[in-house]
Amino acid sequence: MLRSYEKLYTPQTAAMEHSFIRQILKVTRGVPGMISFAGGLPDPASFPKETLARLFHEVISETGDDVLQYGASEGDVKLKEALKNFEEVPWLPDDQLMITIGSTNGIYYYLRTLISPDDIIVCESPGFPGSIAAMQACGARMIGVEMDELGMRPDRLDETLRDLTRSSAPVKFLYLIPEFQNPSGRSMDLARRREILRTALRYDIPVLEDQPYRELRYSGVRIPTLWELARVEFGDDELVTIVKSFSKILGPGLRLGFAAGPEKIIEPMVKWAQKSTVSPDCITQRVTARFIGEGLMHPHIERIIELYRPKRDAMLETLSLLMPPGISWTEPEGGMFIWLTLPEEINTDRMFDLAIGEKVAFIPGSQFYPAGKKRYNEIRLNFSYPGIAEIREGIERLSALVRREIS
Ligand SMILES: Cc1ncc(COP(=O)(O)O)c(C=O)c1O
Repeated sequence: MLRSYEKLYTPQTAAMEHSFIRQILKVTRGVPGMISFAGGLPDPASFPKETLARLFHEVISETGDDVLQYGASEGDVKLKEALKNFEEVPWLPDDQLMITIGSTNGIYYYLRTLISPDDIIVCESPGFPGSIAAMQACGARMIGVEMDELGMRPDRLDETLRDLTRSSAPVKFLYLIPEFQNPSGRSMDLARRREILRTALRYDIPVLEDQPYRELRYSGVRIPTLWELARVEFGDDELVTIVKSFSKILGPGLRLGFAAGPEKIIEPMVKWAQKSTVSPDCITQRVTARFIGEGLMHPHIERIIELYRPKRDAMLETLSLLMPPGISWTEPEGGMFIWLTLPEEINTDRMFDLAIGEKVAFIPGSQFYPAGKKRYNEIRLNFSYPGIAEIREGIERLSALVRREIS
């Protein structure tokens, strides 16, 4: 009898764990009176429900014969056209663009294309656990590079790459979230982006740029992506592959994103898609193409910005009013997260249980460190999901707890 499936698992399956963050979210969900800064969810008020309902109806009734069929693995040409207009890159060849099932899916195909067990990926430390877990599940060794207020430090990146080139394992790529980073909320300025690209070029290491929050900018000026900079300033259209997502704009439930990069990367990614998902959801792709085509995207994004900016401001203001001296936090220009640093002696893994007792939840910073050196005195706070009154009340609870911990 073949009933002991555990014995049949591949080594990767046997080693895989459930996401700790998802477990935390389970503990906090549905608890009466709980204020959660733990998740990374959009506010449902940002979902364009009525417009999407109309568009789904129209797309199925007008083009059902087409969109209910199997679709192209590389994505719908109509969505590609709309996207290229929206992203202001009408010149981009279709074979350098792939539609994916959220950006997670794009990151996964990129991994499948490049990663063999024990290959090295260099990323920010702290970084996004969702991607780090996917990378580790493919057998990659993650090497984190220290950050400062402007994201990954180029001097540390240079040192890391210099050390790694002496070792036998190949560094396959750099994984970067240069804007409103998850978890820190930090963004690279233009000079930092250039420096990071120069370093990548010097070591000839490709870059995977993850940009799910780019459209959610509440202050400051828009800066070119690494993908744009590499092409325009460095004349290199092969260095960077970018993944973007509609999750934080239209809704994560739509599961729609895209990847743009050199044909030599996009083509094998599409081959991986053929073997697993066949194609993204054809209806959702066409609905999104119409959403963009009808000129709805820019005003919709403006509305989301107007929804989230006061939430960010309320969190920053309440932190300034109530947190004791010795605590610092990032002031993100966009995105969904603020990163709080407490005195070294405070362990936020331990503080988490106390916070749950006080009915306020966060994610302890230790959860965001790739394997190796972790820090335990940090916290990620989400401000997109809770309402403004909840943000003020939750920060009040958290500040009171921090004061008690410090004394
Ligand atoms: C940095 C980062 N990358 C990727 C994702 C995954 O997004 P998607 O829903 O498009 O798969 C997230 C989601 O929170 C994220 O924060």
